Amino acid sequence: MQTLLINPEQIVTVNTNGKNEKRKDELSKLDVLADHSILIEDGKIADLISNNSLSKYQTTEKIDLKNKIVLPGLIECHTHTAFAGSRADEFRQKLTGVHYEEIAKKGGGIWTTVKAVRETSLHSLVEIIKPRVKEFIRQGITTLEIKSGYGLDFENEIKLLNAIRVIDELYAIDIIPTFLGAHTYPPEFKNDHQSYLDEITNKMLPYIAKNKLAEFCDAFCEKTAFSAQEVDLVFSKAKELGLGIKLHTDQFNSIGGIGIALDHNATSVDHLEGIEESDVYKLSDKDIVCDLLPGVSFFLNYQYAPARKLIDNGALVALSTDYNPGSSHINNIHLIMSLAALKMGMTIEETISAVTINSAKSVNRNKTTGSIEIGKDADFAVFNTKEYPDIVYNVGRNLNYMTIKRGRVIYHAE
Ligand code: NIG
Ligand code: FE
Repeated sequence: MQTLLINPEQIVTVNTNGKNEKRKDELSKLDVLADHSILIEDGKIADLISNNSLSKYQTTEKIDLKNKIVLPGLIECHTHTAFAGSRADEFRQKLTGVHYEEIAKKGGGIWTTVKAVRETSLHSLVEIIKPRVKEFIRQGITTLEIKSGYGLDFENEIKLLNAIRVIDELYAIDIIPTFLGAHTYPPEFKNDHQSYLDEITNKMLPYIAKNKLAEFCDAFCEKTAFSAQEVDLVFSKAKELGLGIKLHTDQFNSIGGIGIALDHNATSVDHLEGIEESDVYKLSDKDIVCDLLPGVSFFLNYQYAPARKLIDNGALVALSTDYNPGSSHINNIHLIMSLAALKMGMTIEETISAVTINSAKSVNRNKTTGSIEIGKDADFAVFNTKEYPDIVYNVGRNLNYMTIKRGRVIYHAE
């Protein structure tokens, strides 16, 4: 079955010439086509056709995108969308100057959300997550990573991953499940880290791998969470079981997470607000994506990750919301792009590459999506504007008009 997307003002291909990633100057090269149409066949991008040659497609079904622009479907590569409850009270404390880590030390923070998740049934969790996923689709997101990490025991981590699986079955977009059992130590294991590590490595991970409940294993390497050595133990088991690796690291303190991530051939290192200069060079030209999360710096009011330094030194940079109830209660990927431009010195073009091809690489989907290249899935975000800079210039405003997944329109603005 064939469909044509005709008359867009621009097709922002984010072309990689088959490399499926972008570094340094390549991030700013988007390869924008005018006077072209996109031919979709069986859910894939079959051709990019100059409008002069459209006459032979007279009988093909067409979607008219006059006054619109087409981008690759956007990829959200780091979210904690599967949470219950609210942390508005802690937000109020933060506004009076109480630090995020201080709240965590007093038994709040992640633990507040864990308590809420443990009290919520699988069915209710799914109902809570549904509108959040719909909101992402409304923004043009066609691939969405979601982490567990708010259960912190066998029963509740599995409940979260099952909820994520149900969500994947309900929606046409691709959901990438990540296991984050090593998010923080639950109070019952506060003084017995080894027993919780055993729980993760002997019980949770084998069950998750056997039932294919997660594609990646993530951890939080931080003074208030897991040491580099502890993360090493978790990752060794996860890799043995065939899971991909991601790591929350250098958010506040640099305690060796980047070295561990590199040792384990991690797919991504995420946060990096507190990365040391020497570690920036370790990420140069490496096959590891740096998922930068400017929403966290904005929400917690502290320093941004050194995006310029990372890009200029040849690291792979992606952007994501980190949508969660405590450190970035922000689910707007377009706002994140604007923050990256305004606060981290990224160019408009770089922010687009960072939420498409490089974020696709961060979830290991860069060979099938993330750019408009022949043979890839027909995943698109269509924006209601004539020029792509408007997406970043209209801070926090959703200009997405249509979301297309594997050739099928799954969202259409009125
Ligand atoms: O990516 N840093 C660790 N985890 C999340 C926040 C979790 C929370 O506060 O609920 C993050 O920032
Ligand atoms: Fe996170």
